Amino acid sequence: MTDRRSLAAGNWKMNGTAAALSELDALIAAHGDTRSELLLCPPHTLVERMARAADGSALGVGGQDCHWEETGAHTGDVSAAMLKDAGATHVILGHSERRADHAETDRMVRDKCDAAWAAGLTAIVCVGETLAERESSNTLQIIRGQIAGSLPDQATGHNLVIAYEPVWAIGTGKVPTTDEIGEVHSDIRSTLERRFGAGVAKSVRILYGGSVKPDNASEIFAVENVDGALVGGASLKAADFGGIVRALDGA
Ligand code: PGA
Repeated sequence: MTDRRSLAAGNWKMNGTAAALSELDALIAAHGDTRSELLLCPPHTLVERMARAADGSALGVGGQDCHWEETGAHTGDVSAAMLKDAGATHVILGHSERRADHAETDRMVRDKCDAAWAAGLTAIVCVGETLAERESSNTLQIIRGQIAGSLPDQATGHNLVIAYEPVWAIGTGKVPTTDEIGEVHSDIRSTLERRFGAGVAKSVRILYGGSVKPDNASEIFAVENVDGALVGGASLKAADFGGIVRALDGA
């Protein structure tokens, strides 16, 4: 591992009501002295309660999306400042489910990123190819395009985290080979270097996401340029997420 602090981020997606917060106590108790940074991104309705429950612990809280505008007539949306006000420190942007279900474009993701930074949030920007794109050998080109279009110019190692999530690996139990993960992560690092310079490129964490589980985590974390994981299904239970955190601490 490098001097980048590894990050285990959980994405609860549209799962969890107040009862699910009981998972936090177990997670916090078991990982109070973790080397890695821990983050959970619950649905917006739980951000404030989770942030209160996690206050003073090793666990940070993030949102799963925000609007690109600060306020206004956008029924059903939340702004970055609202997430910050509720206790969030991070926000996931451009997840493939949002790109697919809500027709989010790179341009929108870029504008959301600007909004997140203006509010003082760290953006976790997701990129990843579909199965058809991988099978037609277009993976690197697609990811480079998403990075070019989705990131504003002011990226730093503090305000930006990239999550590489192959769309076909999300929630499917299918995972790319470690060589495939390594190839994409190293290409993302070089793409960041060309755009933002070596200093920024070296400091931005690049997470892998897509069917990360306790039993495949160590292998994935051993890959060069993998600085942690964005975890969906396995972040819902403290025991599973905890297994991933242990693998990351040991990497
Ligand atoms: P998964 O989801 O771990 O359930 O595959 C990952 C994600 O979508 O962030």
